[in-house]
Amino acid sequence: MTRVFSGIQPTGNVHLGNVLGALLRWVDDQHTADSLYCVVDLHALTIPQDPVELRESTLRLAQTLLAVGLDPEVCTLFVQSQVHEHAELAWIMQCTASYGELSRMTQFKDKSDKAGFVSGGLFTYPALMAADILLYDTDLVPVGDDQRQHVELARDVAERFNSRYGDTFVVPKATFPTAGARVMDLQDPTSKMSKSADSAAGTILLLDEPKVIEKKIKRAVTDMDAEVRYDVAAKPGVSNLLSILGAVTGRTPEEAAVGYTQYGPLKADTAAAVVERLAPIQARYAELAADPGETQRLLGVGAAKATELASATLARAKDHLGLLPRA
Ligand code: TYM
Repeated sequence: MTRVFSGIQPTGNVHLGNVLGALLRWVDDQHTADSLYCVVDLHALTIPQDPVELRESTLRLAQTLLAVGLDPEVCTLFVQSQVHEHAELAWIMQCTASYGELSRMTQFKDKSDKAGFVSGGLFTYPALMAADILLYDTDLVPVGDDQRQHVELARDVAERFNSRYGDTFVVPKATFPTAGARVMDLQDPTSKMSKSADSAAGTILLLDEPKVIEKKIKRAVTDMDAEVRYDVAAKPGVSNLLSILGAVTGRTPEEAAVGYTQYGPLKADTAAAVVERLAPIQARYAELAADPGETQRLLGVGAAKATELASATLARAKDHLGLLPRA
């Protein structure tokens, strides 16, 4: 059976980009593949975190993933720091990736330009992400477009390790959605929608109320020529709305454009479709939030399942490297 692995950071609130770029496919994939999904709290440590907030947001994110539709009976849902093999293989991956490769990561350049404190971990982050993926003999990694370069690096380090030390890791492949791989900021449609966006008005949060979603989409930046057409370079704002509408209604952006001649109806329909798609998730989240103990129990079961797979892969890698086993 195909093995799927993906992760999401417990920083900020889940937004529409996360949902359309990744989470909806996680829900689909769990039924067709042997899937593992991880709340990557160690990745969050690349920037300083408030301890109380980190613990809460890790739990909230797990509840959000359950609300979106992950079924812990079907897939494995766990928290990265509860499976210590991630940190251990990450060191091995840091020694397998080159300084040049890590220096070419565009996300490091973007984030380090903005950060006041640039940790060593922010630089070596893609090695930890490679470890996450390789620990589970992963075939496919469903992600948004912004993670493309990181998954490429995971492939490169897996191939390098295999050729130096013998067959050890499965070489993974990223997968992207047909619509929604790169959801853009509604106020600045040339930047991706993100948790750390300058303007909250440009980001639709999964838990935004219907009225807030409607307002944000109504005020989305478009352009002056009043023509509805999917053309990312010439019409980034309109194209972003078409991607969103397509993604939430299961169509390509071009298909979603059919029948529209004005921006008003396009915005109204996009808002209505997003509200309709998110409403059941929001309702389920409210139920789950009332019972944090149950979520923690489910995460414990997930961590135990993940550890079984991860420890076998790590043992294989250590053996091939020539690390002396404990007697
Ligand atoms: P993170 O937490 O930033 O985002 C989680 C997922 O959401 C996708 N995404 C988007 N997709 C479309 N449009 C957007 N505007 C948008 N913003 C975010 C991301 O591509 C991602 O799929 N490094 C990863 C987490 C990670 C991981 C892994 C992923 C750690 N280890 C192993 C896969 C496999 C990250 O920071 O994602």
